[in-house]
Amino acid sequence: MKILMVCLGNICRSPLAEGILQHKSRLAGLDWVVDSAGTNGYHVGEAPHHLSQKVARLNGIDISGQRARRFSGVDFDQYDKIYAMAGDVVEEMKRLAKKQFQAGKVDLLMNELLPGSNMDVPDPWYGTEPGYHEVYKMIDEACDIIISRYKL
Ligand code: 4NP
Repeated sequence: MKILMVCLGNICRSPLAEGILQHKSRLAGLDWVVDSAGTNGYHVGEAPHHLSQKVARLNGIDISGQRARRFSGVDFDQYDKIYAMAGDVVEEMKRLAKKQFQAGKVDLLMNELLPGSNMDVPDPWYGTEPGYHEVYKMIDEACDIIISRYKL
């Protein structure tokens, strides 16, 4: 499996999703490729937000080596499954990928945990540390489901 996690800035939510799923896939002995990207280019080349790094570290996961990159339509050739953190992210992915957009590869991450809910992982960017813990918990639970569903 090659899985891409996408949010807006690739510094708060999707770096957590990448780190968490990569960690769980390794623990499960799976040979998965997990990456993340953002639909805007504002933070390209930057490490994850310090609160995302902190919350990951408190949970035993080091995401400090990640660097933000921008999502592009070419990602549809590289990945089997692309999870968007929120509905506005899917709209931006469509805008960027144009004809390369493959709806069958895209889902909202939270639909793994709560099928059909179309729930967003809230953007913690403007908030405080508790928001990052809340986001971690949501992503962690969704990643458990992904592992159990695709681990064959
Ligand atoms: P993320 O949060 O999408 O979870 O990485 C954001 C970070 C930065 C911005 C937006 C969302 N920004 O516009 O700079």
